[in-house]
Amino acid sequence: MTDDDNNGLEGVVAAHTVLSEVDGAAGRLVLRGHALDDIAGRWRYEDMLALLWQDFFAQLPSAPELALALGRARTDVAALLRADDHAMLSALTPLEAMRALLARVPDGDDLPTALRLVAAPVVFTAAVLRWKAGEPALVPEPEASHAADFLRMVSGRPATWAQAAALDAYLVTVADHGLNASTFAARVVASTGAGLASAVLAGLSALKGPLHGGAPGPVLDMLDAIGHADAAAHWLEAALDRGERLMGFGHRIYRVRDPRADALKKALRQLAQAGGVEAGRVALAEAVERTALASLQARKPGRVLETNVEFYTALLLEAVGLPREAFTAVFAAGRVGGWVAHAREQVQRGRLIRPQSVYVGPAPAAATRVAEPA
Ligand code: CMC
Repeated sequence: MTDDDNNGLEGVVAAHTVLSEVDGAAGRLVLRGHALDDIAGRWRYEDMLALLWQDFFAQLPSAPELALALGRARTDVAALLRADDHAMLSALTPLEAMRALLARVPDGDDLPTALRLVAAPVVFTAAVLRWKAGEPALVPEPEASHAADFLRMVSGRPATWAQAAALDAYLVTVADHGLNASTFAARVVASTGAGLASAVLAGLSALKGPLHGGAPGPVLDMLDAIGHADAAAHWLEAALDRGERLMGFGHRIYRVRDPRADALKKALRQLAQAGGVEAGRVALAEAVERTALASLQARKPGRVLETNVEFYTALLLEAVGLPREAFTAVFAAGRVGGWVAHAREQVQRGRLIRPQSVYVGPAPAAATRVAEPA
């Protein structure tokens, strides 16, 4: 065995889960018995939490009661902000500021802790974006839906129904996705008995790396660089000639389609029908998608390269008014429900995660051994 064996743990089964199945061959994502295709665009994020968290907390309330409890948790979490935070934290990225603020949420394994951890990314990201704009943070409205309250706390204006529905579609779509790096990190920490806040902090830290949480920003950079639908073919062909990868296309596991891309494309179209997306932006995105898929097909005829989740994530988050510097933090706002569910599942059904390593360093040399005392 060499130190490259099991590199990245590819193909290693590290958990049995009831939470989600990523079926790459069928292009299907199943979330606790529900195909993503059937629920994205219909469910609010609160409904998704009620689904993912069932059996993991004693007396989990119904989805409407859970929504109210989550609203109250947003208020609890806002109380953790201090008067001088804007001076200390507004220079950080929203994700880094959130890591610092999340450390203030008391650890625990109960439902109130879980709700505060789901509330935290939304309240903290909105506060940091306001501070960066030179504005004070806004107080949560517990009666509002989680998605609508987030958008209002960012912009200062009530979200339209269509904007809140689009953000719900996003949060539901990214809530859980098998044993990805951040979810695995959360499960490892949970397996030590450290508590939900520690597990969520581990997940958040894993998301900071560009290999996991950082692709939708570059999709918008690409659209900005292309500028106009007529320029798409020339720009994309030149990028491929330089050996670059087109952002928002291809996937390691999904080999026929990424169901999350379809769910978000549908949500974006619905938002556009309600007048919530600039018409030129949709036309540009659709032209780039069409041209990119044709170019990739022509260059890699034996390979299925389809649009992935990041392409429409970028367009949807931009359309609901979230800046690209906050995209990874918004991803955390969705994935946190999955981290909490996996952490609870690990504690209830799993053991301490303790894999082995193979020592491939030098053998102890006789000449350098320290002499035993006489
Ligand atoms: N643009 C151009 N060529 C591509 C692309 C792309 N986006 N994706 C794959 N290819 C080519 C690649 O160059 C390779 O060619 P060759 O065989 O000549 O070396 C061939 O297609 C197969 O690529 P691969 O490296 O085996 O594909 P992979 O399954 O390892 O990589 C990927 C998957 C997502 C890293 C890759 O498709 C990529 O870099 N995409 C662009 C970045 C992106 O959109 N990332 C977000 C992915 S979704 C994240 C999530 O699920 O959370």
